[in-house]
Amino acid sequence: MTVLQERTASLDRLDLSAKKLDFDSIPLIDIADLTHPDRARRETVARKIGEACEHVGFFYVTNHGVPQALLDAIYGVADRFFAMPTEEKLKVDIHKADRHRGYVPVGGLHADAHNTGSHDLQEGFELSLELPETDPDYLAGNPMYGPNVWPEHPADFKEIANGYYSEMISLGRRLFGGFALALGLEESWFEPKIEKPMGQLRVLYYPPQAGTVDPNQIGIGAHTDYECFTILAQSEHGLQVQNRKGEWIAAPPIPGAFVVNIGDCMQRWTNDRFRSTVHRVINLSGKKRYSLAFFYGANYHATIECLPTCQDKANPPRHPPVKAGDWTVANIKAAYTYVPKAI
Ligand code: OGA
Ligand code: NI
Repeated sequence: MTVLQERTASLDRLDLSAKKLDFDSIPLIDIADLTHPDRARRETVARKIGEACEHVGFFYVTNHGVPQALLDAIYGVADRFFAMPTEEKLKVDIHKADRHRGYVPVGGLHADAHNTGSHDLQEGFELSLELPETDPDYLAGNPMYGPNVWPEHPADFKEIANGYYSEMISLGRRLFGGFALALGLEESWFEPKIEKPMGQLRVLYYPPQAGTVDPNQIGIGAHTDYECFTILAQSEHGLQVQNRKGEWIAAPPIPGAFVVNIGDCMQRWTNDRFRSTVHRVINLSGKKRYSLAFFYGANYHATIECLPTCQDKANPPRHPPVKAGDWTVANIKAAYTYVPKAI
């Protein structure tokens, strides 16, 4: 059975509840020392991160430095935004935007590309690196770079979301430093390739699901993420991660921690050493569930080509080089039911 068939088969089992395994199955890593002046201390954290990336593809991070007050604030504006009438939200409908920005109504996403009858029971708001209209890439018609679109209400949405976005870039860069160390590269190796990132923040709302759950309509269908890695905050239970035996493992929110998971781009970059792991969301919490999924994508113009430390004679590159921008555009087209005008 191929990996794709396995994914579909596991959904067909109709068993939508996750096994509650020990948290040890998804490692919890204190990353405070990633910025420690002592290199040995940084390496100790990086080693743990590397192990998690190779074996699980998912880990929690604590002591990440992102203020809880900012998380509370963005959950607050998300709650107010998604509670507004549909007409109001559709004023920033992603279908009207020329870039991949704005409000994604239910039906806009079908993350499980192998289950064509599915669409995800979630609403989202998409934003990216805030760039001015004078940005040279934007002026040149680049499909990924440009200004964000913002709702008029809540009035503080833009400021809070941009503040959160900056924190994600900062945390993401620290994590890239840890990945570099774990992979035996110069700590700053990724920097030139990630300084103008295609990072996408999705502010997500999942309505509660009760009664019989239609396996073709869950919060987000089984998928892997396509960017380098994802930093996820979640207000309620619902995230499930598939282990190597095909069992679904619950990845509940842990106060003060983010979930980090490797995406397909990083798997490719590392010659499949780091693992991009299948996951899904079913909101059986009985409550509204909000999550903040930040996808760290490389610079549009960066080339993703097997890292020098992930190949040798016995283990040659398995994937041809790809331009990061082409990779992202192709994946957006596959996952969403609309295509941004600029693409
Ligand atoms: C995603 C995703 C998980 C969540 O958006 O790719 O897996 O909890 N989200 O929202
Ligand atoms: Ni995902």
